[in-house]
Amino acid sequence: MRVVAERVSKTYADRLGQPVEALRDVSLAVDAEEFVALLGPSGCGKSTFLNIVAGLLRPSAGDVFLEGALRPAQSATAMVFQEFALLPWRTVQANVEFGLEELGVCARERVARARDYIALTGLAGFEAKYPHQLSGGMRQRVGIARALAVDPAVLLMDEPFSALDAQTRQLMQEELLLIWERTRKTILYVTHNIQEAVYLADRVVVLSRRPGRVLATVPVELDRPRVEALLGTPEFAAAVERIWSLIKGEARRALEEAQ
Ligand SMILES: Nc1ncnc2c1ncn2[C@@H]1O[C@H](COP(=O)(O)OP(=O)(O)OP(=O)(O)O)[C@@H](O)[C@H]1O
Ligand SMILES: [Mg+2]
Repeated sequence: MRVVAERVSKTYADRLGQPVEALRDVSLAVDAEEFVALLGPSGCGKSTFLNIVAGLLRPSAGDVFLEGALRPAQSATAMVFQEFALLPWRTVQANVEFGLEELGVCARERVARARDYIALTGLAGFEAKYPHQLSGGMRQRVGIARALAVDPAVLLMDEPFSALDAQTRQLMQEELLLIWERTRKTILYVTHNIQEAVYLADRVVVLSRRPGRVLATVPVELDRPRVEALLGTPEFAAAVERIWSLIKGEARRALEEAQ
């Protein structure tokens, strides 16, 4: 499934009713089976954008279109949230089944599908545990398994690994790439980490500071499968540097404006 955002803007009202412009005229497309990273500084509207694509929030102007057919019992989108957002009173198995219940999938198939995605995300043996009994990395795997279980055409990931330590994060990134190679989902992945964006994505869409606007779209021409050794190569460093210089330029302009 393809995602097309056309001139999406979003203005919130703060507690005093003052407008907070989060996004301005964001246009971008994610092709079917493409892995796109959306990169931008804190508060630039990244989560807002994902929520709009997920249909959880309406844009103030512009629109998002999801182009492509859905199979039966398939969700158009599923989100892996920035905070793990698991249901604390449900076991791992029941958390992963949650979205399938919403889709009206029968109990037998729910159990089977949840089991498959629990295995795929390396959680086999933990089905009966509750979220508080798991590490951060494992909780995030449950969030990923829950999102994948509804077989979404588009997987939306909101800084899914930012709460994890560096080593766990690296392992989870590699696992995500393996899962993506197996499932070929269209992925829109939000991060404010340049290295992570370059390591994972086919293209990196760089947003400005708030209100988020598209500063540039940078293709990442690194071979796949991506492996850890890539992190030390000049090609990787060059791609990171290119994006960093864009962001630095933006930060400098903001400083000059403030003076
Ligand atoms: N419900 C809301 N009401 C009012 N303002 C909001 C609301 N949600 C977000 N905002 C504001 O909109 C802006 C964008 O928020 P958003 O959460 O989309 O940013 P973000 O890029 O995801 O940030 P982070 O990297 O910190 O997660 C921020 O200034 C935020 O304070
Ligand atoms: Mg956010």
